[in-house]
Amino acid sequence: MNLVVVSNRVSRGKANEPMTGGLAAALLPVVEKSGAIWVGSSGRVRDGSHKEPFAEVEALGAGALAMLDLPAAHYGGYYEGFANSALWPALHSRADLIRASQEDYVSYREVNAFMARALLRFQKPDSAFWIQDYHFLALGAELRDLGITQPIGFFLHTPWPARAVIDGVPHHRELIEAMLAYDLIGFQTEEDCENFLAYIKCDLQLAVRNGVVTSRHGKTRAAVFPIGIDPEKFAQLAAKAATHPDVSRLRRSLNGERLAIGVDRLDYSKGLVNRIKAFDSMWTQHPRLKRAVSLLQIATPSRGAIEAYGNLQGELAKLVTDVNGIHGEVDWTPIRYLNKGYSQAVLAGLYRTAQVGVVTPLQDGMNLVAKEYVAAQNPADPGVLVLSKFAGAANELDTALIVNPHDIDGMARTLATALAMPLTERRMRWEAMMEKLRVHTIQQWFADFIEALQDTQADRIEVVEPVITDPPLWPRQSADGGARYH
Ligand code: F6P
Repeated sequence: MNLVVVSNRVSRGKANEPMTGGLAAALLPVVEKSGAIWVGSSGRVRDGSHKEPFAEVEALGAGALAMLDLPAAHYGGYYEGFANSALWPALHSRADLIRASQEDYVSYREVNAFMARALLRFQKPDSAFWIQDYHFLALGAELRDLGITQPIGFFLHTPWPARAVIDGVPHHRELIEAMLAYDLIGFQTEEDCENFLAYIKCDLQLAVRNGVVTSRHGKTRAAVFPIGIDPEKFAQLAAKAATHPDVSRLRRSLNGERLAIGVDRLDYSKGLVNRIKAFDSMWTQHPRLKRAVSLLQIATPSRGAIEAYGNLQGELAKLVTDVNGIHGEVDWTPIRYLNKGYSQAVLAGLYRTAQVGVVTPLQDGMNLVAKEYVAAQNPADPGVLVLSKFAGAANELDTALIVNPHDIDGMARTLATALAMPLTERRMRWEAMMEKLRVHTIQQWFADFIEALQDTQADRIEVVEPVITDPPLWPRQSADGGARYH
């Protein structure tokens, strides 16, 4: 089988380069080994005068990496617009933040169609396509329109919310109906999968039997594949990282003080404001913890051109300054707040240095930082993971200290509990989490999905008409009836 993996963001596999986002970091080692072609955005744009989509192709492990310049006229509407100002807030249950124009939706569909055309050059008779994430919900349908009959799978790295929230996304019916061109749709958790199937049954009024939907596209299976990490490799990275200059400088600077660590993209779904407030509350309620514990919060900027992200950046900077101003001393800074990215190797060392890992998103598909924090710990003296119940990872890592990220005082109390936890309890909880990480590895996730994808094609024949009430906006013809953007 010739596997073609597609995601918006890709990683070039340079060990010491900072990586943004869990998807690219997680996929890199498995894609490298599998010999797949990984296709994604180059981060650059091009105007529409070129007939062929431009891709820079380079070797990646046993396979290749193809980075595509996306169409300049549609990139903003696709990435900052529909993907990250309509789908992202909705998928994270923030319907109040949905902002999208009709042009954004059209740009999103144009980029999906553009990607489908670009993929044709990587297609072979025994190809299978595996599309990643919400940037490409309609890519399967576009590939089918171009005559692709090979297996096409899709995995959603984010949560899938309740129907009422998805109903707030403009053109949701058309878009989700297009998703049914996929043979297999994978989710992080049972709840995500159930929410999706509830939408299919209630909004599209399609029959679902044992997780299989029958539509005009044939059959689509929806199933759960929780993404993992390579815990042994991460543990080795962490053990080796002690001598890295960033890690050793951090250790020296602590002077016996204990450290809590948070590592997130600067995103409203990550619950950063509540987290900083929880530390504020902890130092207020337990003054003995002043100078005894500080927080290292790495918040890597992303999607800065979107208003909600710009606002959050300003709000957080102010909040951190206020909290440091209230609790700090001439020789003690409570929160070290960094707006930049670090390589996996450095992060592993930072996680191992911290006695508490704080992962408190308001909503999160999985959150691989939680898993990486656990894997990075010293088995003889492991730290404590404080984990939001709304992260997908909480389903597996149930011996972490589970918190409600909306309950600021509750989080403050849990942080104090984490800092006081005796070694025997820390080891017991950590062992139980490591056990899970060793079973549900990234390699297993990859293998399980590919196996399920290969099993799906057998019966894609039964066809029923969709229930779509709005006139479809897609496929679009230009005003003069001519071809779409190339
Ligand atoms: O699952 C969400 C995701 O695709 C992750 O890969 C990553 O956390 C993030 O979104 C990447 O965001 P961006 O590429 O917009 O910085």
